[in-house]
Amino acid sequence: MENLKIDGARLWDSLMEMAQIGATEKGGVNRLALTDLDRKSRDLFTRWCEAAGCTVTYDAIGNMFARRPGRDESLPPVMTGSHLDSQPTGGKFDGAYGVLAGLEVVRALNDADVETDAPVEVVVWTNEEGSRFAPSMVGSGAYAGVFDLEESLAIQDRDGNTLGGELQRIGYKGEGCGNRPATAYFEAHIEQGPILEDQKQTIGVVSGAQGQRWYEITLTGRESHAGPTPMAVRRDALVGAASIVTAVNRIGHDFQPGACATVGMIESSPNSRNVIPGEVFMTVDFRHPDDDRLAAMNDALRAAAEEAAAANTLELDFNQIWSCPATVFDADCVGAVRKGAEIGGYAHMDIVSGAGHDAVYMAKVAPTGMIFVPCEDGISHNEIENATSEDIAAGCQVLLHAILDRAGGH
Ligand code: GLV
Ligand code: MN
Ligand code: MN
Repeated sequence: MENLKIDGARLWDSLMEMAQIGATEKGGVNRLALTDLDRKSRDLFTRWCEAAGCTVTYDAIGNMFARRPGRDESLPPVMTGSHLDSQPTGGKFDGAYGVLAGLEVVRALNDADVETDAPVEVVVWTNEEGSRFAPSMVGSGAYAGVFDLEESLAIQDRDGNTLGGELQRIGYKGEGCGNRPATAYFEAHIEQGPILEDQKQTIGVVSGAQGQRWYEITLTGRESHAGPTPMAVRRDALVGAASIVTAVNRIGHDFQPGACATVGMIESSPNSRNVIPGEVFMTVDFRHPDDDRLAAMNDALRAAAEEAAAANTLELDFNQIWSCPATVFDADCVGAVRKGAEIGGYAHMDIVSGAGHDAVYMAKVAPTGMIFVPCEDGISHNEIENATSEDIAAGCQVLLHAILDRAGGH
């Protein structure tokens, strides 16, 4: 089994073909969750998996499961996968890599006529990015019982469309959600940061992921004319927002080492050049590997938001919409990934994930591990996101070994 090889060229070709769906001019992908483009990517995944002999099903939140039977169908499956939705200016690899690496493992097992003891399932999780429907990792979170199914289906995008309605519309609403044991879950992903490239390592053996909190803040002041309204009487919501943006950045620096702090979305209303902004909606993304430090960042943000509102006579609506504590992956699965890197002879190191992944929620219901490969200049959530075909193949080869380790193969 140690000699079994995935086909790196086939994996690369599949990645490039998938990247045609929602391709952007700058070489990236815009495939927001539950859009028509998401449907097209799901249709293509289904075609490929059925051609590889898998049975494809989907659950009530649209998570997809492509099952390759095992010798013993009573054994819980070894699952692997990631997501096919992207950021609005996303790359070709974030998510699609983990899904298509899983498919390539199935194809390689087929080519070599290998029967695993446990079934293998390749999973596509719904709405991992949280870009259209906040928060992140909704499909895997609902599957793991972290999110209530009905509440998840009721999440709205900024245009008022519900996640459940859009899921119906694209035809991927199935039955049931979660409550199914898994022997293990593995997810391959680009690192999305610079560490592996800097350290000249091919494989990141992921030991866990840092904690995250997401916030939505609305500041309400008073719209008025930009000319006749004296500075002293203004209630300018954008000025309050500006001081929150600055505070978020300061908190990120104050809580080093480890903190990340971002205002990623800001909507100023009415957004007219000669009207003083009456309302601003903004989001904050906080991350830290230490949950106590993350809680302290929360307190600092709340204080800064209250101060900004008071200083500009604004009403403040402050909501923490999501909290996901730091995660430690299963020692045996982490060990299986490390062993896979050793079998393949790849330079490897242990690493903590800075990004959120569906593996974080799968870790709540199954022994879980992740495999990282480097990406160019550590850049992701950007259309220029890139990785070498050699590294992409190496990560998939490690995934194959890790899956065989847990599923048992003959
Ligand atoms: C998911 O892409 C994240 O925000 O980490
Ligand atoms: Mn991802
Ligand atoms: Mn992402």
